[in-house]
Amino acid sequence: MLFDNHGRPLEYLRLAVTDRCNLRCHYCMPEHGLEWLSRSELLRYEEMLRLCRLLVELGIRKIRITGGEPFVRKDLMVFLRELSRLDGLQEIALTTNGVATGAFVPELKALGIRSVNLSLDTLDRERFFQITRRDEQPAVLNTLEQLLRSDFSVKINAVVMDGLNTDDLIPLAEMTRDLPVDVRFIEEMPFNGGDHTTTLRWNHRRILDTLQQQWPGLTALPSSPAATASEYLIPGHRGKVGIIAAWSRTFCGTCNRIRVTPQGMLKTCLYDNGVLNLRDLMREGLDDEALRERLLLAFHSRHKDGWAAENARQNDPVHESMATIGG
Ligand code: GTP
Ligand code: 5AD
Ligand code: SF4
Repeated sequence: MLFDNHGRPLEYLRLAVTDRCNLRCHYCMPEHGLEWLSRSELLRYEEMLRLCRLLVELGIRKIRITGGEPFVRKDLMVFLRELSRLDGLQEIALTTNGVATGAFVPELKALGIRSVNLSLDTLDRERFFQITRRDEQPAVLNTLEQLLRSDFSVKINAVVMDGLNTDDLIPLAEMTRDLPVDVRFIEEMPFNGGDHTTTLRWNHRRILDTLQQQWPGLTALPSSPAATASEYLIPGHRGKVGIIAAWSRTFCGTCNRIRVTPQGMLKTCLYDNGVLNLRDLMREGLDDEALRERLLLAFHSRHKDGWAAENARQNDPVHESMATIGG
């Protein structure tokens, strides 16, 4: 097993395969998009596979594919097929906006992928358009239906935005009445590729209060040690609701995750500024042994939590989009 300098097991890699996206969510990027990375700046699939192999040899057990929107990258399925053959890797999961995912559901299943997290911030089509600036809600709902029909474990991610979708909390949580899904409400982080703002009007406590007012019988469930979400059950419902304190960072103490950004930067915390440029090291010709040493050094110098990681950035507050950071 792989441990960091705080004794936390590192088992979970979040690998962002692209910074591009087919939506333009307010909380993630400006209307005109971002300054997209050029092809040569992006990690190539064979570079990703090499990194994944090394990391799995070191102790990573689960890889979540994120972006941007993963399905916007050409030949994603070819890459996933290769990845699914990696010895020692126990789980591949995906986080997607669901716009182009539907067509790939049977193939994902055939590769042994069982878990998909779907971004969906509202059930109202007009509001979906307002939030994402694209009229794609029917495609997302179709993906959801297909995933459930194919018995995927599905988590729905809804970012809670003051004045934009707070009326959707109850309808979204209502989905758990009949559907076996986890609906998770996420604190909005100021990672939108624009100005850095930190006024969080809807933190995890306010989200919980709102749910409790509607369902006084809401009960907290035990969660796995490294989980980002606090989970709850609404009596009589099939699915669960969750709250992710992404900005308040209440779960850092047990964090088991590392990230590789689309441009091949290793991040040992979502809030750090990138700790190792893996792409350049690989392109300079570093061999596996040397790369392994550099990785281990980074894992043994992790910040204690997201606050320490953010403080270490000094005059460079986090403002880049989740799409460039990599989910
Ligand atoms: P599971 O693997 O199913 O537990 O999902 P996950 O919550 O790790 O992944 P997902 O991609 O669905 O992320 C959901 C939300 O969790 C993201 O929008 C982030 O806001 C938040 N999140 C994920 N990882 C981190 C992290 O390391 N730190 C913080 N602060 N938030 C995170
Ligand atoms: N704050 C919180 N969550 C965000 N996501 C993207 N940008 C933000 C943000 N600024 C979420 C998406 C997706 C997950 C990977 O990250 O909704 O579900
Ligand atoms: Fe695209 Fe996801 Fe960012 Fe929305 S949050 S613009 S779906 S990458």
